[in-house]
Amino acid sequence: MKISIKKDDGFVEYELKDTDTTLLKILDEIKMTMDNTLTYNSGCKSSVCGSCAVRVNKKEVLACGYKVQDGDKVEPLKNLEVIRDLVVNMDKAYEFNTKAKAWQSKQSHNISLTHEDEKINDVQSDCILCASCFSACPVYAVNGEFLGPFSLTRLWRYVSDKRGSDEKAKIDNIQTNGVWDCTLCNECTLACPQGISSKADIEKLRMKSSMHGYMDPNFASFGGGLSF
Ligand code: SF4
Ligand code: SF4
Ligand code: FES
Repeated sequence: MKISIKKDDGFVEYELKDTDTTLLKILDEIKMTMDNTLTYNSGCKSSVCGSCAVRVNKKEVLACGYKVQDGDKVEPLKNLEVIRDLVVNMDKAYEFNTKAKAWQSKQSHNISLTHEDEKINDVQSDCILCASCFSACPVYAVNGEFLGPFSLTRLWRYVSDKRGSDEKAKIDNIQTNGVWDCTLCNECTLACPQGISSKADIEKLRMKSSMHGYMDPNFASFGGGLSF
């Protein structure tokens, strides 16, 4: 069985003996026995830390959870600067969390959450920051400033928390390069190893935006074109 791995000078093919295993174990074996220059990230080896995300045959996977197949083509994540081989610079992706203000900046005291309240944003808290959704998002081909799927999902986690008291400011902040730039293509959902749908969270943020008086700028300009 053979797999190809994208290195700095193009795809390099490796012949494998042990095939009934994960891609991460194969990368370890290649590094130890065939090519000690091969560079990739890993941590927990159990789909928890998010550090080993790569693309296989153009789809995002966690290398520690993916079973290798004959002919697989392994590449680094898209939309991020490649540092070397399969290692990308995550700084750009994380910066969008800051730009989206995806944190709980103010908290109303004396509000307790019920079990039902916790369920509203339970799954969003499971994000492991692997950036698979970021890599799968087609918007970066046309807008490098898009806040992106996981930052908006993280923002929804705080906007939907009834202990937060600055919902309006958070919604104001995502009107440019934010909720309306998403094409709702759902690629982020398909790429997420944690079953998080950033697309659905962005739709909920759009609904909140409408409740605060905002509307899709594309419709607004369309309406403007029709008026005399
Ligand atoms: S649904 Fe939106 S955020 Fe998700 S991949 Fe598509 S364009 Fe990007
Ligand atoms: S939302 Fe899913 S795909 Fe995106 S960074 Fe979090 S865990 Fe990874
Ligand atoms: S090594 Fe942690 S998710 Fe794969």
